[in-house]
Amino acid sequence: MRNIIEDELSSSSIIRNLSVLDFDYVPEELPHRDEQLRFLAQMFKPVLSNISQNVIIKGPVGTGKTAIAKKFCNSLVSIARGQGKFVDYVHINCRKRSTDSMVLIGILSHFDSRFPDRGFSVQEMLDILRKQMIKRNSQLLLVLDEADALLKKSGSDLVYNFTRFSDESTASKNPVSLLLISQKDLLSMLDSSAISTFKRSNLLSLNKYTRDELYDIVRQRVGLAFYNDTVEEDCQDLIADIASEWGDARFAIELLWKAGIAADHQHVKSVTPEHVRAAKAETFSIVTESKLRNLEKHQLIALYAIAKRLKKDGTAYVNTGDAEKTYAVTCEEYNEKPRSHTMFWSYLKDIENAGFINLKQSGRGQVGVTQLISLPDIPAEIVGAKVEELLN
Ligand SMILES: Nc1ncnc2c1ncn2[C@@H]1O[C@H](COP(=O)(O)OP(=O)(O)OP(=O)(O)O)[C@@H](O)[C@H]1O
Ligand SMILES: [Mg+2]
Repeated sequence: MRNIIEDELSSSSIIRNLSVLDFDYVPEELPHRDEQLRFLAQMFKPVLSNISQNVIIKGPVGTGKTAIAKKFCNSLVSIARGQGKFVDYVHINCRKRSTDSMVLIGILSHFDSRFPDRGFSVQEMLDILRKQMIKRNSQLLLVLDEADALLKKSGSDLVYNFTRFSDESTASKNPVSLLLISQKDLLSMLDSSAISTFKRSNLLSLNKYTRDELYDIVRQRVGLAFYNDTVEEDCQDLIADIASEWGDARFAIELLWKAGIAADHQHVKSVTPEHVRAAKAETFSIVTESKLRNLEKHQLIALYAIAKRLKKDGTAYVNTGDAEKTYAVTCEEYNEKPRSHTMFWSYLKDIENAGFINLKQSGRGQVGVTQLISLPDIPAEIVGAKVEELLN
């Protein structure tokens, strides 16, 4: 017993640095994001002259929004320090802190790690923050990551407050700069009063990574995380191919991580394409889950209906007519009124864009234009279970 444990714990690994494969890890260089980092530098340059700025970053899942924000903000802080200026950088994840009060507690505990997590009103905390900024004579660079969660739950009051942070204290400049990040269109979620401060020019839009860009990202990670020549060249290509369907760097890195762990568990000397394929098959990851979370209720119901139907029929395809019928039945199960035929079509298009289904024209010999739907990658059962969980 002890021998087994000892053997495993002391066995050698092809992974040199596992933490490099963490979701939170941000590498020194971010391939294919130079232009975006330059844009942020141009936008926030005035902060070094005590002039606050507000910027929004928007882009699909795993396109490097959080990574470039962290990279940029940390650089700005240290460059400012080199010039004898003080910038405080606070990064708040609004999915974890989705009320005004929780966001403020998060900010204030950056300045005082023992700041109590109850006992102060929002107004009082804003006042405390204001005094802190004056006392420190610094600028606050506040990143509200996944800001849609805050806006959805608590509205745009807090954002508005930050954009007008100095109004009361006489004539001093606003010491708070905001960087809002989201997959969603935040401008449409802000009140008109808050919108006016976010000029459209302050929007940084990220695109999905292309296959070749993903290849470079994976290659970089292989170099950082693995010992030399322990990942077969084909693996990097294969991972880039698989992840290019989503354009998502996190998905690519997750595949690399899982493939690496699998190879290690087998005590083999290198990661092979077979490990990558196994990782892909196993992966119905948090990545996919976060993609599901971005679908609206009726899109979820439509997807669930398709998954249910495919599982029940045991076929590779379901035609859109049958899918729509199952959709209508599923709506009833969830006490929802089925939406119109046209809407159902638009849901199909949306779910296709999100990468969950493939639509193709049905073969010859059938009447009229009907389309066939398939689930490309993920077993119907798994999609169904996950969607059901989200709907409940
Ligand atoms: N250009 C890049 N070079 C190297 N690694 C990258 C690059 N872009 C993203 N990554 C890595 O991919 C993963 C996902 O990136 P990130 O967390 O920034 O995505 P995101 O756009 O914030 O996604 P989400 O919308 O889900 O929050 C991270 O581990 C990050 O380090
Ligand atoms: Mg992110």
